[in-house]
Amino acid sequence: MSLVYDLGFLGGGQLARMSIMAAQRMGLTCISLDPGENTPASQIAPAMRGSLDDPEAVAHLFNAAARVTLENEFIPAQTIKQALIIAGRDESCLTPGILTLATIQDKYLQREAYHRHGAPSPLAVPLEGDYSEAITKIGFPMVLKARFGGYDGKGTRYARTPVEFQTHRGLIDQGNWMAEQFVPFSRELAVMVYRSKTETGTFPTMETVQVNHVCDQVFPAGIDASAAAIAAVEAVQGYGLFGVELFETTTGNFLINEIAPRPHNTGHYTLDWGGVSQFEQHVRLAMGFPCALPTGADTCIVNILGIDDLKSDVLQRDGLVQTQFVKEEWISSDTDGIRHPREEPAPGLNRGGDPVQESTNLHNATVPDPIEQGGVEVQSSDYDWLSQETLEAAATKALLKARQELFASHPQAHLHWYGKTESRPGRKMGHINVSGPDCRNKAITARNSFIESWQESLR
Ligand SMILES: Nc1ncnc2c1ncn2[C@@H]1O[C@H](COP(=O)(O)OP(=O)(O)O)[C@@H](O)[C@H]1O
Ligand SMILES: [Mg+2]
Repeated sequence: MSLVYDLGFLGGGQLARMSIMAAQRMGLTCISLDPGENTPASQIAPAMRGSLDDPEAVAHLFNAAARVTLENEFIPAQTIKQALIIAGRDESCLTPGILTLATIQDKYLQREAYHRHGAPSPLAVPLEGDYSEAITKIGFPMVLKARFGGYDGKGTRYARTPVEFQTHRGLIDQGNWMAEQFVPFSRELAVMVYRSKTETGTFPTMETVQVNHVCDQVFPAGIDASAAAIAAVEAVQGYGLFGVELFETTTGNFLINEIAPRPHNTGHYTLDWGGVSQFEQHVRLAMGFPCALPTGADTCIVNILGIDDLKSDVLQRDGLVQTQFVKEEWISSDTDGIRHPREEPAPGLNRGGDPVQESTNLHNATVPDPIEQGGVEVQSSDYDWLSQETLEAAATKALLKARQELFASHPQAHLHWYGKTESRPGRKMGHINVSGPDCRNKAITARNSFIESWQESLR
């Protein structure tokens, strides 16, 4: 066994990417495991491609890295247990622990843990049998939640009435759902908690605003919910970094909604607040280093969600991967997923007879106006013959222009872009942080201008 890397990540999304950036700054070497190709993490550090449900694949990561952590809580605890056995390693190399992970990845076990520990949290009942027990105990309105795998509201539904409950039967009949008391909260809060065997602490309490169940804005709450958040982490016997989501009730009480055993969207402000970032703290905890004391300036986060169904061209250039978006319908792909011109143009020319743009000169390439080209009418449109270089240029221009305009008009905006290869409405593509007075309004204005210019450049 040769543990070549200091730190391995189960999952290669944006949370792994930003944690790896923090680790690299500290001189650590990192690797990630993810089923996807060209993941946000793989663009900046070595990566293995493999299923996170496959103990053999997970064992490869344990064989490669001295310490291992995760960036999502969906890897089955059982898979990790088997992987440790295959790799001949013990659990001490993993943060968070397996028991904590197993509790958190089942939202019902989470609720049970909070109640056992006396940490206030809404009542929940598993949806089993004819559901009468859940309906009697919870009543209406109720919230239906998938016990496993939910994120960004994908496993959350409201049932205000028995009739509405019936409309969700197709989903809940599939099994592993629970019914939960609806909380008429006055606002939602989030606290990042860090806990090692010797240190426990919190980052400042933030207020969060969800739109369609997806986190949209995060800003200082002006209140301290750290005691409730720490109680939640203790309830799941958690060690490591945790994002704790809470409800503040109209009577000023805190109820625990849920916990994530990793960096969390609501902690992204720490990248620009002037103190230690949640990612560095996560790396310190996973490596067994002492924690840093988190203090910094008031900072607001706004998320940038996908604006359209966009696919990215993944460009490999000089060993670097860049991702750039084009409208999916602009791409004519064959079954192998690779774009092919309908007929091969003469060497050096595209199908329009124009010289193919040098890839080093993408920013100056002429991009035909899609409208003039007959709109974005799918495969039959003229886009079939566009050279790869031209398509890449179109996409490069789109995001470069949006960035240029953002930085020109909002110099205080810090843009963080995750490098995802596909954009979908509602998918987190990046975020903007703004610090200082009036940071919330400034961040929202900056985000609006970024989205507008991104949208415009795709028209
Ligand atoms: N019991 C509840 N009462 C009222 N709203 C809820 C409740 N549970 C969840 N929500 C709303 O749905 C959002 C998503 O639910 P959550 O349990 O956090 O799932 P996810 O894992 O998708 O983030 C929450 O941020 C909150 O706005
Ligand atoms: Mg949540």
